[in-house]
Amino acid sequence: MIRLTGIRACVFDAYGTVFDFASAAARCPDIPEDRRAALTTLWRDKQLQYTWLRTLQGRYVDFWQITGDALDFALDSLAIQNPRLRETLMELYRTLPAFPEVREVLFSLRQSGFTTAILSNGSPAMLDAAVSGAGLNGLFDAVLSADTIGAFKTHPKVYQYALDQLGLPASAVSFQSSNAWDAHAASDFGMRVVWCNRYGQQRERLPGVPDHEIRTLAELPALMPTTRTGPCGISFQQ
Ligand code: 2OP
Repeated sequence: MIRLTGIRACVFDAYGTVFDFASAAARCPDIPEDRRAALTTLWRDKQLQYTWLRTLQGRYVDFWQITGDALDFALDSLAIQNPRLRETLMELYRTLPAFPEVREVLFSLRQSGFTTAILSNGSPAMLDAAVSGAGLNGLFDAVLSADTIGAFKTHPKVYQYALDQLGLPASAVSFQSSNAWDAHAASDFGMRVVWCNRYGQQRERLPGVPDHEIRTLAELPALMPTTRTGPCGISFQQ
């Protein structure tokens, strides 16, 4: 597999890439086991739809509000009426576990001198809770929220925000996402992209072409250049 060249920072999508959003319903005993997958799919699909629609309409609200609205839709759709359950699911979503390989991969990338960051639709409070809840404190040089921009991915302003904060050109950033739509958009924006296709999705018919497709992030370090160009300690604009 051909290694990427000229990379100085590895930037990660959060939900589905670093954190396992399916674990919220999976860890909720009050949901019948045979309804958990359907709830997760409905909840996730509606959450993403609301981010795209609200960005298109210029009617931004933060990702916590969207996640709650999407959950309400999913619970109604499955005729699961249980306010206590809603609060339990939202709390489980706030502190999702990281996928098993994440910690070691981040440590390895930082040992090799790469800057690591999150670029996510998640609100700052959600991302702080997720990073610390998953025990990943200190493994990201920057945790970047679309909330600062007031628009969600795939708006180009969100990807540009990461470049501005890292002080790097798109060609020096490898963006990792499990979401095909996000991977295509980051590629179309100009970043190098590794699509972590955890869910066996088909390629989207959208602008942009991910540079590599992997199944878990454990395959990522082997794709990075062996010699990192430029200083590791990039100063971020606060
Ligand atoms: C993100 O973390 C929603 O997974 C997407 O931005």
